[in-house]
Amino acid sequence: MASTVIKNWDNKTWLSSQNYIQSFNNFLIKNIKINSNFKILDIGCGRGKILGSLSSKLKLKEKPLGIDIVNHKDRDKRINFKRINVLNFSLRKDQKFDLILIKQTIHLMKFGEIKKLLKFLKKSLNPKGKILIFTLDTGKNEIPTFKLMKHKLYKSLKRDKKILKIITKIYPHRIKKKFIFDVKIRKKKYLDMIKNRYISTLIPLSKKQLIQGIQEIELKYSNELRFKDKLICIIL
Ligand SMILES: C[S@@+](CC[C@H](N)C(=O)[O-])C[C@H]1O[C@@H](n2cnc3c(N)ncnc32)[C@H](O)[C@@H]1O
Repeated sequence: MASTVIKNWDNKTWLSSQNYIQSFNNFLIKNIKINSNFKILDIGCGRGKILGSLSSKLKLKEKPLGIDIVNHKDRDKRINFKRINVLNFSLRKDQKFDLILIKQTIHLMKFGEIKKLLKFLKKSLNPKGKILIFTLDTGKNEIPTFKLMKHKLYKSLKRDKKILKIITKIYPHRIKKKFIFDVKIRKKKYLDMIKNRYISTLIPLSKKQLIQGIQEIELKYSNELRFKDKLICIIL
């Protein structure tokens, strides 16, 4: 497991906007027939806003469970939360889920860990249960970047392609879908996100590299950024 700690991913960014959360949850509901009896687990849930909103929307009878290595103070209270590394997570034999969500988290793990996790999770599903893995679209990414960030992102997406191959090898009948969200954001706000190292590719950069990158973005983009945030969704 990488030592990366991501704290500002969904900290007042488009990823925590009502619009994004609703679009994402509509995508889930469109692709999986979720009802109020569903037992849901979210691995790497962050602040748990997606899960909390889903719980309200579907009037879930049982609070969904979110797990994460970071316990945010402003975490959504509509979920049960466990602070744990999923790789050390164990379940009671009778604890099964109808939906397991892994959204933009699997890329932070080593290949061997991913294989072990997927096998363990499959055993934690009810017979008709599904695992949904979301990860950045490896092919047609539009995330605004500066030169070094683009290079790091490219490397990371190359690794993601390998992860997708591993998943397909274990589960050849997996289904692939796309979730696309239109982002409109002020450049100033996006620069704040960069400063906050919102994406894992920015975590290892030095302060100097970050400042240089911010200057590049200042020059490269107009005051309003418009792009598509594209995710691949793998259904197992
Ligand atoms: C990029 S964020 C995604 C958050 C949320 N799923 C979303 O899409 O808004 C990745 C999250 O995974 C968590 N995480 C990373 N590795 C983990 C692990 N081994 N076990 C549990 N959580 C982990 C991080 O702390 C972080 O909150």
